[in-house]
Amino acid sequence: MSVLVTGGAGYIGSHMVLELLDAGEKPLVLDNLSTGFAWAVPEGVPLIIGDFGDEALVTKLIAEHGITAIIHFAAKIVVPESVSDPLGYYENNTAKARNLIACAVKCGVQHFIFSSTAAVYGEPKANPVTESEPLLPVSPYGRSKLMVEWMLEDTSRAHDLRHVVLRYFNVAGADPKGRTGQSTPNATHLIKVAVQAALGHRKGMEVFSTDYPTPDGSCLRDYIQVTDLVRAHMDALRYLRQGGDSLTCNCGYAKGYSVLDVIGVVKKVSGVDFPVTLSGRRPGDPAAIVASNTRVREKLGWTPLFDDLPTIVKQALDWERRLHNRLTQSNGVKK
Ligand code: UFG
Repeated sequence: MSVLVTGGAGYIGSHMVLELLDAGEKPLVLDNLSTGFAWAVPEGVPLIIGDFGDEALVTKLIAEHGITAIIHFAAKIVVPESVSDPLGYYENNTAKARNLIACAVKCGVQHFIFSSTAAVYGEPKANPVTESEPLLPVSPYGRSKLMVEWMLEDTSRAHDLRHVVLRYFNVAGADPKGRTGQSTPNATHLIKVAVQAALGHRKGMEVFSTDYPTPDGSCLRDYIQVTDLVRAHMDALRYLRQGGDSLTCNCGYAKGYSVLDVIGVVKKVSGVDFPVTLSGRRPGDPAAIVASNTRVREKLGWTPLFDDLPTIVKQALDWERRLHNRLTQSNGVKK
């Protein structure tokens, strides 16, 4: 009885694999390594380098490894890139997901957990946003994910498949034991960027505008620690195995921090006053988006362990240092 983790060599997927191992499960990773790393997959966990949309490959893996559940992370996740390459996003995130779901149905896999996103809400009218708010994604990225939510809903009605959709808010931090973290080069996410600035891995950073209708004018987000996020998937897996109905839950802490708050915490935790410049709005940024997490707590019994921004920032700093050492060592560059 194994669990197929697509994108298991990536940021969130590699944390999922560790959590599954820690729980005594048998993960199998399918990843094309386009943004993931083979070294992020723990020793002893099979890594299949391939495409989750390849029905022949997935069918074979399900049969050979006795897969009973699929946790689907693999996706393109850069919002501005989705605006310039919508068809690439619909191909990768939507069309290939259709093939993966079809394989699950064909091979009798009954449990499916899907990484969705707060981007399906677009700019919510009120915060914290509940799962029953209107779904009005403003980017091809958000739409490419929402279409998968719909496919799962329809498929679960028609076939013997139950699913949990988890809508992630802003994922940050790293494994508390330092085994994995956010390793993607050229990452654009706020905490990663600020941590790189604090460590001198970039000269400084920009704040994309302070003219939003928020208390300090910068955007408000709900930053969820990555281990807490993957623990929600473990809760979802247990829930499905216990016969729970298909479900959609937000994953966040129901707390909003502004961009300036986050930068302040990174400066404080790192002890470095790195340069910050103010620039214009980044297209597609909602002013504020904060999760209601009542449902994930009530239905899945999720309780966060790392709901503390300085802790999240410290983990990100620790991981960035390790990653930097790994890269400089492997390049033979002496610091
Ligand atoms: N920001 C800066 N400077 C930076 C990087 C980010 O000011 O160098 C700001 C952004 O403008 C935004 C906030 O920090 O206001 C957070 O930006 P991130 O890029 O870290 O994250 P997003 O909120 O844009 O993205 C997240 C998820 C996406 C999801 C989106 C939905 O990572 O997958 O929320 O709103 F689509």
